[in-house]
Amino acid sequence: MSAEELGQKPLLSLVRAMVEAMRRAPGVGLAAPQIGVDKQVIVLEDAERLMASLDAEQRALRGRAPFALRAIVNPRLEIVSHTEAVFFEGCLSIPGFSALVPRATEVVVRGSDERGAPIEWRASGWPARILQHELDHLQGTLYVDRMLSRTFAANEEVGQHWAALPVAQVRDKLRA
Ligand code: CO
Repeated sequence: MSAEELGQKPLLSLVRAMVEAMRRAPGVGLAAPQIGVDKQVIVLEDAERLMASLDAEQRALRGRAPFALRAIVNPRLEIVSHTEAVFFEGCLSIPGFSALVPRATEVVVRGSDERGAPIEWRASGWPARILQHELDHLQGTLYVDRMLSRTFAANEEVGQHWAALPVAQVRDKLRA
């Protein structure tokens, strides 16, 4: 997005449409290409009701906690920690499925909001995972390009077989 587009109606409308689509899904992040727009824009938001199925220990392991809505324009990602965490991840563009995906545990994202105010966000845990997932969308990369393929399954299967187990055990059983 060019500097002249920041704060202008088309970008503000795009962000509004993206937030609506993300919340309707519901999901924790969305990238503009997912709604057919070739722009470098992402939105993210996590809420208590979206993590209701996770107990306190599962939340702590994932570094998952609610955070307020954010739109980031022209985001650039820097990996801060090359330590990887592996958890099940899904995508609104591939509804009904998930797989284990390794992601860096800490990142910094720089860009601006939709009105041009600079953003620098150092994130770890689940927000870091969401950021990597959404930034990937902007480059045409999906989680299925990074997943441990043997763990790819319908959400019902994941819920039935794997959701309650530690990730290490899932990997062991699936040789993933
Ligand atoms: Co996605």
